Amino acid sequence: MQNPFIMDHPLIQHKLTLLRDKNTGSKEFRELVSEISMLMCYEATRDLPLQEVEIETPMAVAKAKVISGRKLAFIPILRAGLGMAEGVLQLVPAAKVGHIGLYRDPETLQPVEYYCKLPTDIAKREAIVIDPMLATGGSAVDAISLLKKNGVKTIKYMCIIAAPEGMKALTEAHPDVQIYCAALDEKLNDRSYIVPGLGDAGDRIFGTK
Ligand code: PRP
Ligand code: URA
Repeated sequence: MQNPFIMDHPLIQHKLTLLRDKNTGSKEFRELVSEISMLMCYEATRDLPLQEVEIETPMAVAKAKVISGRKLAFIPILRAGLGMAEGVLQLVPAAKVGHIGLYRDPETLQPVEYYCKLPTDIAKREAIVIDPMLATGGSAVDAISLLKKNGVKTIKYMCIIAAPEGMKALTEAHPDVQIYCAALDEKLNDRSYIVPGLGDAGDRIFGTK
């Protein structure tokens, strides 16, 4: 698997274009984030191990496959990661959800942790961190470090748009983490927003600006 894995599927790219458009309002923006997350999750769970079980169909006894081994936990980084949670949970409703609250200090741009609530059995689960934007990479690097401190062995990271700066920081800090994104954009601006990006994901999801 390539790392990072850029998802260039036409459905994802089409929805991403609508998401970037500044004329897309909060309702449609939330729906698009959810749909893109679901499509990305389909690909990010492609390597889940399967085991054979025996079931009875109305016609016969049959050998069939179910997901086995380590179970999943989704870890949205608050706030914007919440926008992705609904979509991924539609595909894997049995997954548990852990929340990590981080915001970027507008002056220092450093992530500040304000909340962390993880499933008690998190160390036994595969974790998929979800956050629409990978800008400087500070939030992703810290969230993944926190999961590792809590004993998580297998971690994936899924974002919608990444900047080259954030991608570099994340792959250097956590080379073992498989990254999925829908677009690798051009650059960060002088306030560390992604260009062309989509603006402030949290504000657009929750209509706070
Ligand atoms: C955004 C985004 C990421 C972070 C990315 O959150 O959702 O978590 O910025 O930036 P970084 O890669 O430079 O750390 P923000 O801090 O704006 O908080 P919010 O989700 O509460 O709006
Ligand atoms: N966070 C966002 O929401 N957007 C960016 O472009 C960068 C960080």
